[in-house]
Amino acid sequence: MNLAIFVSGGGSNARIIIDRFHAHPEYGIAVVLLISNKATAGALMIAAERDVPTLVVKRDAFYQSEELLADLKSFDVDFIALAGFLWLVPPYLIKAFPNRMLNIHPALLPAYGGKGMYGPNVHRAVKANGETESGITIHYVNEAYDEGDYVFQAAVRLDAEDTPEQIAERVLRLEHANYWRVLRKLAASSQE
Ligand code: GRF
Repeated sequence: MNLAIFVSGGGSNARIIIDRFHAHPEYGIAVVLLISNKATAGALMIAAERDVPTLVVKRDAFYQSEELLADLKSFDVDFIALAGFLWLVPPYLIKAFPNRMLNIHPALLPAYGGKGMYGPNVHRAVKANGETESGITIHYVNEAYDEGDYVFQAAVRLDAEDTPEQIAERVLRLEHANYWRVLRKLAASSQE
């Protein structure tokens, strides 16, 4: 499986996925490209340090052309993992990767999903509602935010005194432990 990771930010998930699959070539997954919609995303540095090619996409090119498909093709990408990528994925890209694009969401969908529910907003809302647990959802990407079929969910218990920042840390740890595993499982089942 030739994987492209799409990011908008720091890229801690991208870092773990790149390092894990680099250390374990027997898993059959190569991270061949990292795409960011932000030229300042820390993830770009993480990828460059690891010799993973990077691209920065501009809004117009992303939504008003399909030129990204040619880039993905030139790197032989056959699977996409969104890891903190904040733009809605346009239909042409979803059609080109049917059931071949995953997203990770830092909450137990369908709760705390949808437009505007990302990063700190999610954890603040979880805190405001006094939830006793939160978690992660890894799901296929379709044309609406956070509504594709779920592949994996895991929960973490919260303490009443957890701040939104502490909730974020607990949830991120779950993401790090699980995203690469889910990708590995999908790669293994597609090779059967
Ligand atoms: C993660 O919480 C992910 O679930 C969300 O954005 C965050 C990205 O973190 N969609 P990082 O850039 O991988 O550190």
